[in-house]
Amino acid sequence: MPKLGVNIDHVATLRQARGGNTPDPVYAAFLARCAGADSIVAHLREDRRHIQDRDVKLLSKDIGGAFNLEMSIAPEILEIACRIRPHQATLVPEKRKELTTEGGLDVVKRFNPVSRAVKKLKNRGIRVSLFIDPDEEQIEAAFRSEAEIIELHTGRYSLAEPAKEKNKFFRQLVNSTRYARTRGLTVNAGHGLDYANAGQVAGIEGIYELNIGYSIICKSVYIGLPEAVRQMRRLIR
Ligand code: PXP
Repeated sequence: MPKLGVNIDHVATLRQARGGNTPDPVYAAFLARCAGADSIVAHLREDRRHIQDRDVKLLSKDIGGAFNLEMSIAPEILEIACRIRPHQATLVPEKRKELTTEGGLDVVKRFNPVSRAVKKLKNRGIRVSLFIDPDEEQIEAAFRSEAEIIELHTGRYSLAEPAKEKNKFFRQLVNSTRYARTRGLTVNAGHGLDYANAGQVAGIEGIYELNIGYSIICKSVYIGLPEAVRQMRRLIR
């Protein structure tokens, strides 16, 4: 049964809209944990557009479950991660102008800097995950980098419209999960998952955890965060 990681970036987006201190993503993390989230995910972006340094410092301390810090491999962010020591770091590509993380990390092309970052984080006792496209070459490079976990990018699957197209991307996720498991990697998945499609991805054999943010935070506007988390948890089970 896959675990649920709840990404709270967009609680911080709302806070930053007025530049004050509410709503507090750390309190949201606490509520999500109480409602059954297995881990909390937050992305400290280089431009600090939503999550702030103070948030990741508090989230690393004690939220009663795993804290998964999404991050680029920029030296400044790596330093912060090594200092605050989250339970897990998920390395993602980052572009300044994007609305959200657009594609997977190209571990094949950026093998040397990525594997240096993996080693640096692992030396500080942090588990490392690489956010990659569902592609065999990327999985192989992730394995060689000595990351223990991969997160398969589900964005293309989530956005695909005609059923045939969706099915093609779904098969990629299934095959990539199977391949990565034969390499001994833990396989997570995320991006663009919602109440309509998360169940299907949760059903892929070998998936360890789904990381979901936007759809849960959107639903929480209507029904509250704890209920939005509970509904997602029921769905992926
Ligand atoms: N996983 C990763 C690596 C991400 O970058 C994001 C977006 O921050 C998510 C999961 C969550 O995506 P969404 O907000 O679309 O559910």
